[in-house]
Amino acid sequence: MGKTARKSTGILITLEGGEGSGKTTQARRLCERLTAQGLDVLHTREPGGTLLAERLRSILLDHSGETIAPETEACLIFAARRQHVDHVIKPALARGVTVVCDRFSDSTMAYQGYGRGLDLRILRTMNDWATGKLAPQLTLLFDVPVAVGLSRRRGRAATQNRLDREAERFHRKVREGFHVLARREPRRIMVIDSAQPLESVTETVEELVRNWLKTYRRRTSRRR
Ligand code: TMP
Repeated sequence: MGKTARKSTGILITLEGGEGSGKTTQARRLCERLTAQGLDVLHTREPGGTLLAERLRSILLDHSGETIAPETEACLIFAARRQHVDHVIKPALARGVTVVCDRFSDSTMAYQGYGRGLDLRILRTMNDWATGKLAPQLTLLFDVPVAVGLSRRRGRAATQNRLDREAERFHRKVREGFHVLARREPRRIMVIDSAQPLESVTETVEELVRNWLKTYRRRTSRRR
C-alpha cells in the first residue's frame, strides 16, 4: 500500500428506508448497544453531519421556497455528502470508529434515481465522485408498506418535510427502488421488516448486527 492510501480500520454501517420506517429510533438504539459493548461509535446522518451539510439539509427539506429541480436536489445532496465524508466519516473510520449513518448513498439511488427518475448511471458516477467510492460494509434496510410509513409520518404534521409531502406513488417507487438495490447486493443490504412492533425490530437488529460483526471480524482477522 502506498504512503497516501491509508487503509481505514473502522466500520461504516448505514440505515436506510422510506418515510416512517423507524430507522432513526433504531439507529439510536443500535449506537447505544454498540457503545455498551465497548465500541467507539459515531452516530451521524444524511443529508447532514457537518455545519454546512446541515445547512444544505435545511434547504433540501424546506417546503416553503421555490420548487427544486430533481437535478438541483441531487447536486445539493452530493455536496452535503462530500463535506460529510471528508470532514466526519473518513476521519472517524481512520481512527477505528464504528460509524452508524442514518441514510447514505442508497437513499440517493432510491429517492433521486427510482423516485425522481434521474439517470441511475449518472447518479452512480456522481456518487462515486462525491464519496471517493466509500461504501458501507453493512446496510440495514427498514422496510415498511408505504401506507403504514406515511401514516406514521403524517401523524406528525409539524415535522413533515418537503419529501414527506410527495405523492404516495413517489414513495412506492422509492420503496421498490430500495428492494431492487437489496436484491442486487444481498450480502451488504439486510432487509428488516419494520412493520413489526418497535421492540421486536430492535431485537432483530441486535441479533443481525451481532452475527454480522462476528463474521466480519473473523473474515478481517484471517486477512491480516
Ligand atoms: P430523514 O433523514 O428524516 O428520513 O429525512 C431525510 C429526507 O431526505 C428523506 O425524505 C429522504 C431524503 N433524502 C434523499 O432524497 N436523498 C438522499 O440521498 C438522502 C440522504 C436523503
